[in-house]
Amino acid sequence: MQANISKDLDQAIKVLTAGDVVAIPTETVYGLAANIYDETAIRKIFKLKQRPFSNPLIVHLHSAHQLALLTTQVPDKAKMLLRAFSPGALTLILPKSATVPDLVTGGKNSVAVRIPRHALTLDLLKRLPFPLAAPSANPFMRISPTQAQHVADYFGSSVPLILDGGACQMGIESTIVGFEGDKPIVFRLGSISIEAIETVVGQVEIRNKKEQNPEAPGMFARHYSPRTHTLVTDNIMSILPAFEGKKTGLLLFQQPLPYPVFHQEILSPDGDFNAAAAHLYTALHLLDNMGLDVIIAQRLPDIDLGKSINDRLERAANKG
Ligand code: TXA
Ligand code: MG
Repeated sequence: MQANISKDLDQAIKVLTAGDVVAIPTETVYGLAANIYDETAIRKIFKLKQRPFSNPLIVHLHSAHQLALLTTQVPDKAKMLLRAFSPGALTLILPKSATVPDLVTGGKNSVAVRIPRHALTLDLLKRLPFPLAAPSANPFMRISPTQAQHVADYFGSSVPLILDGGACQMGIESTIVGFEGDKPIVFRLGSISIEAIETVVGQVEIRNKKEQNPEAPGMFARHYSPRTHTLVTDNIMSILPAFEGKKTGLLLFQQPLPYPVFHQEILSPDGDFNAAAAHLYTALHLLDNMGLDVIIAQRLPDIDLGKSINDRLERAANKG
């Protein structure tokens, strides 16, 4: 059966209120959303994604005022980050109040919260009497969706409604920040750069590797993965001869290479990190659907959103 892609907010409200799942657009990636207080609906999200219950979901809000109900404490630096970046691609990990169901938080005593910056979804959140738990709308370990059609390709009609909010503006997931006392720790690199975070709260620790961070359940070394064998390198030209005769696709930052390969996908001809991030997953979806033998991605300069993009490329290339 065909997927139901629509812009109809009333229909989304109906489906969510009836206890089912709706795919929602955000400025980062599409999410698979359900009422945080409806256990059956939340279980559907885990089942659709084939995600382990130990891996908690982000709770989406329309206003920072809702934090009072969901969390027991908001550190000063969290408030500063909220003022600077909310609504936006910022997820905060905060101590959870008893009202947040354990199913949503994987049994943890913290809850991840974010106020997305997408007009349609903010409107939806305002009109609902409950917040929405929403992980990215991709099966476990696969590339996140940045267009309604990506969600349809993954789930077809098994998601009753895909709310179409166009292509996601930022294109990679939110930056996740937690706290030890008042000390900010970045658990996931994302659409807000470390440099931007640091201008607001000073130096932060980055703890985004599984081995540094057994507590953060979602930090799998392999993630965002194409089915196609994927490599990431600083120097594509030096490894290309080894792929002679293979159906090869290149994922490049700015310029095509003078080398005959099946396809070269450019992230941003202007060398703009924001544009590159916005195009990253669409490019990976595209390359993954070409029947290639190999995708070779070029590592970006390790600054600004280049850092977040490199993080995703490395996880895409990891076979473990
Ligand atoms: O941009 C985004 O954040 C998107 C859109 C839809 O909002 N959502 C998203 O959700 O990326 P998801 O579930 O794919 O990734 C959330 C990450 C996971 O790695 C999860 O383990 C982590 O957040 N997380 C959630 N709650 C947590 C908690 N209480 N403590 C530590 N990590 C948590
Ligand atoms: Mg995800």
